[in-house]
Amino acid sequence: MRFFRGPAKSESRMKIPLLLFVVIIGCCAKENLHGTSFLFSKSSTIAKVVLKPTISEPLKNITICLQSYTDLIHKDSLFKLEAKNSYPFHIFQISDYYYIRLDRDQVYLKTSKESMEWRLICVSWESSTGVIHFVVNGKLFPRRVLKPGFIIDPEVTAILGHNIGFSDVGFGIEEPSYVGEIRKVNMWDQALHPSEMQSMYFNNCYYCNGSVISWESVDYEIYGDVLLYRPSKKP
Ligand SMILES: *[C@@H]1O[C@H](CO)[C@@H](O)[C@H](O)[C@H]1NC(C)=O
Ligand SMILES: *[C@@H]1O[C@H](CO)[C@@H](O)[C@H](O)[C@H]1NC(C)=O
Repeated sequence: MRFFRGPAKSESRMKIPLLLFVVIIGCCAKENLHGTSFLFSKSSTIAKVVLKPTISEPLKNITICLQSYTDLIHKDSLFKLEAKNSYPFHIFQISDYYYIRLDRDQVYLKTSKESMEWRLICVSWESSTGVIHFVVNGKLFPRRVLKPGFIIDPEVTAILGHNIGFSDVGFGIEEPSYVGEIRKVNMWDQALHPSEMQSMYFNNCYYCNGSVISWESVDYEIYGDVLLYRPSKKP
């Protein structure tokens, strides 16, 4: 009789840790990510990378550069700034259009679907005029104007890969994430000259070093199926 008691007890004990199912979602660090990329391997509503910019004052001028590589363009959020109740800046692609969104206004730019190469995407915006310069692989798109006078709250985090659908009132619902690779993410609190963004492409962003996000010293957290990929040395 006693023999049955023991196993029965331990079985019920084992159920408790099973119920306390905790998803380990990430890790934190300030690291030099030179030579690495974030590999978004599986589309999900939780996959994303959160970067912590070092911003002390409200932003009137910004530049963001990153490299992305994907062969599966559906609707892909590349980079956005998230404040407490809003997304003051967002760059995403849908099919062969790039969208740049500031607060609730957006512009879009037509590109080609040609995808079998890394794309160095740079966007700069200057609040005083609202002028946007958009450069992909060294090519400057026709200028756009968006939200002159708008100021970006310094209390933001930067988010890679995480898709949301926008309703007219702003905040949206989570959608499946980007699938592909993102690397060399840099952000400046100045609007770089288009020629500076163009020349980054020709030196493969080797000297890219953002003033508020620097790929050489990044504070990041990974959520969901995203891997920080470090290529191994050639044999
Ligand atoms: C933003 O850029 C404009 C034009 O280059 C400049 O006049 C202004 O001082 C800059 N503002 C900040 C806060 O850097
Ligand atoms: C990168 O920029 C930061 C901030 O401007 C600076 O402190 C750092 O020395 C720069 N790093 C390199 C390698 O140039």
